Amino acid sequence: MSATPTFAAEIKNLSVICPGKFPFGNLPGCEKKILDRINLNLEKGVFYSLIGANGAGKSTLLKALCGLRSFSGSVKIFGRDLKKVKRNIIGYSPQNDASDKNCPVSVYEAVSVGRFAKNGIFRKFLQEDANAVQKALALTGIENIKNMPIGAISGGEARKTSLARVIAQQPEIVLFDEPQANLDPQSKQDFMSLIKVLYKKFAFTCLMATHDIDLIPDCCSKVIMLKNSKIVLETDNENIAKKAKEYNIYS
Ligand SMILES: Nc1ncnc2c1ncn2[C@@H]1O[C@H](COP(=O)(O)OP(=O)(O)O)[C@@H](O)[C@H]1O
Ligand SMILES: [Mg+2]
Repeated sequence: MSATPTFAAEIKNLSVICPGKFPFGNLPGCEKKILDRINLNLEKGVFYSLIGANGAGKSTLLKALCGLRSFSGSVKIFGRDLKKVKRNIIGYSPQNDASDKNCPVSVYEAVSVGRFAKNGIFRKFLQEDANAVQKALALTGIENIKNMPIGAISGGEARKTSLARVIAQQPEIVLFDEPQANLDPQSKQDFMSLIKVLYKKFAFTCLMATHDIDLIPDCCSKVIMLKNSKIVLETDNENIAKKAKEYNIYS
């Protein structure tokens, strides 16, 4: 019998390298290291915040973890290679929602995508899927806008739609990329409270990228600091502003 894996994710020597500037970008030594040998273990059910200045590599790391970005090194999800795990186990709420706002899709349909992420696109949409979507809409407080086209909703409602899609998927690991981006200060706080409620309810493992340390919630136990493509500190969620200063995270 194989042992139960200890970690939700084990990241070893993860690097993402892109060609550097034209005309010598492809020559050895001229490439751009976006992430440089990242080593990180995510414990099951723990809330992690990933902080770093703009351009530090936060979004790239999240994209690598959900298979949207190729990388070297290895990532194991609950003990299995990322390439071999079912994608539905990882939920991802991107920094910039790339959905075409002119696409004639309702909020309900956008949230339903979470069910296709869970079950694949070839399965019929069943009553249990409709129930999961309805529940996700209710938990995120957007039932009242479910029939609105996604092009007509506000930025805050769009973030909630993205969150509801992830909840409908019922993942075990959730990656949030700057979930409060483009919201006004009160909406940022409200949105974080909502994430906190959902994290406590579903006990998923969470990795949230943010450049704003004031928005790290108190349910977050660990903070990972990225600077110049590397993890410079993994620490408990205490005195983060002081530690960020010490490690020059924003300078
Ligand atoms: N496809 C790409 N090609 C070249 N450079 C990229 C690409 N994607 C991201 N980068 C660069 O990698 C760095 C890290 O980007 P990103 O992960 O978005 O940072 P963060 O989310 O921390 O702001 C940035 O300098 C960005 O311009
Ligand atoms: Mg980013």
